[in-house]
Amino acid sequence: DWKMADYVDQTVASLREKIGSKRVLCALSGGVDSTVAAVMVHRAVGSQLTCMFIDHGLLRKGEGDAVEEVCKTQFHMNFVRINAQEYFLDRLRGVTDPEKKRKIIGDCFIRVFESEGKKLGRFDYLVQGTIYPDIIESGGTGAAVIKSHHNVGGLPDVIDFEEIIEPLRRLFKDEVRRAGLELGIPSDLVWRQPFPGPGLAVRVIGEITEEKLSLLREADAIFREEVKAAGLERSLSQYFAVLTNMKSVGVMGDGRTYDYTIALRAVTTSDFMTADFARIPYEVLAKASSRIANEVGNINRVVYDITPKPPATIEWE
Ligand code: XMP
Repeated sequence: DWKMADYVDQTVASLREKIGSKRVLCALSGGVDSTVAAVMVHRAVGSQLTCMFIDHGLLRKGEGDAVEEVCKTQFHMNFVRINAQEYFLDRLRGVTDPEKKRKIIGDCFIRVFESEGKKLGRFDYLVQGTIYPDIIESGGTGAAVIKSHHNVGGLPDVIDFEEIIEPLRRLFKDEVRRAGLELGIPSDLVWRQPFPGPGLAVRVIGEITEEKLSLLREADAIFREEVKAAGLERSLSQYFAVLTNMKSVGVMGDGRTYDYTIALRAVTTSDFMTADFARIPYEVLAKASSRIANEVGNINRVVYDITPKPPATIEWE
């Protein structure tokens, strides 16, 4: 990929020149964009970059560890992982309204970022993984907005950066992935499907508890494994499990059960404004279903969402 290699080299060179000997902070979300942005800046200025990864406990199974592994072990970055699971969960307790969940998560994110960022000292620049479509979507207001997917209005005043650095602001998603591969980021991470900023919070319908999150994480991991095993990963735009808030009667051995229903969702789309449900082979669904019911406790029913968008949205909340 000569073209992308050139682009990466040029961007790294200009970042190096711009940043000079100053300090840079990057807030990592665990997604593709912020990881690629961080690795690019790291290539330019190495240890002048500090990455802060706020683990809100709403990521998919294994995701937080994978990001830590790549940043720390592979790239030797200054990497600070903030374990904020309890704080987020605490603030979300009893909340059922989807928009309230989003607001709370955005607010928690800002507060943690603010208080933990201060502990790390003064930074001159903030790195963000804003990509071209984000800029179009936000009406070009660009810079001082923490990526909209964190559902956050603006940067905390307390930390005043000289400037925001957005090394991916001219790239489309597929170019970000190519840049990521060029930089040596493992392809599993580079090809990660989009994941909403509020994470699993909007995939646990209704109140969020640690128990529900852990059921969902396991079920979702099984579905992803089966999709991968069937070689369907790249042909699906998004695929995930949802923990519905519904319990129903089932049977196990001699006894009746009364447990949760997991919904599986897989869609194809080019722009996420409209989408169709994916025609996943029945065998793949059958395997996922039986594994989920057998391996994850407290789930006795698995359904597949066959609604396009519209009228449904891709997410359930
Ligand atoms: P919907 O559910 O609206 O989703 O059809 C369209 C795309 O947006 C993602 N999504 C979000 N992304 N913060 C995000 O960063 C959010 O609050 C949010 N809600 C939905 C969804 O995963 C899909 O890719």
